[in-house]
Amino acid sequence: MQIQSAEFKCSNTRTDKLPPPVLPEYAFIGRSNVGKSSLINMLTQRKGLAKTSQTPGKTQLINHFLINQNWYLVDLPGYGYAKTSRTNRGEWERFIRYYLKNRESLQCVFVLIDSRLEPQRVDLDFCFWLGEQGIPFVLVFTKADKQSRLKTAQNVEKFKKALLQYFEEIPQEFVTSSEEKLGREELLEFIGGINERFVSPI
Ligand code: GTP
Ligand code: MG
Repeated sequence: MQIQSAEFKCSNTRTDKLPPPVLPEYAFIGRSNVGKSSLINMLTQRKGLAKTSQTPGKTQLINHFLINQNWYLVDLPGYGYAKTSRTNRGEWERFIRYYLKNRESLQCVFVLIDSRLEPQRVDLDFCFWLGEQGIPFVLVFTKADKQSRLKTAQNVEKFKKALLQYFEEIPQEFVTSSEEKLGREELLEFIGGINERFVSPI
């Protein structure tokens, strides 16, 4: 898929203010600083489209980006961001979980996982929750440029193995680097395939 246009559409703190659910939508989620916003910029080839930062907690809202006038990429705040207060974190969780459970046009959740790390409890728990809710998701390993391919492959295998303790089937995975544009074609092709089959829920 070619990206002809990519534009920021809106930021929301409330799910009742989101754009009408008539276009296929893909949400990026994962721990703070895992590289969600960077990946959106890499896919769209628009450097400053989604705000990135070395400081975790940069993305605080649900941000919709309209791509090719016919589908949305959604940048979500990271989970596990320690600096937000406990109450804030609770609210964030409720809000995001509500969005993920109820958004009719959401086609797939991209769970971003830092490829440098051994499986992290918080990422596994989040995948289990998605599975329980029956929300379709795929695994996207980020920052693969930061270590050897072997190390990345080992961490991917460990993560999949941890998931297999609970799931019979594990979702598709993608290995990416926003620095090196790794995984771009694969992700766009995956999205394009779903877009073709999309039928508006309303
Ligand atoms: P929050 O919005 O805070 O939840 O973070 P985020 O997940 O959106 O992360 P963001 O894209 O802002 O990236 C965090 C940091 O990681 C930035 O300093 C990026 O430059 C860096 N980064 C992201 N992706 C990659 C990558 O593929 N390779 C390398 N080397 N650095 C990356
Ligand atoms: Mg971000």
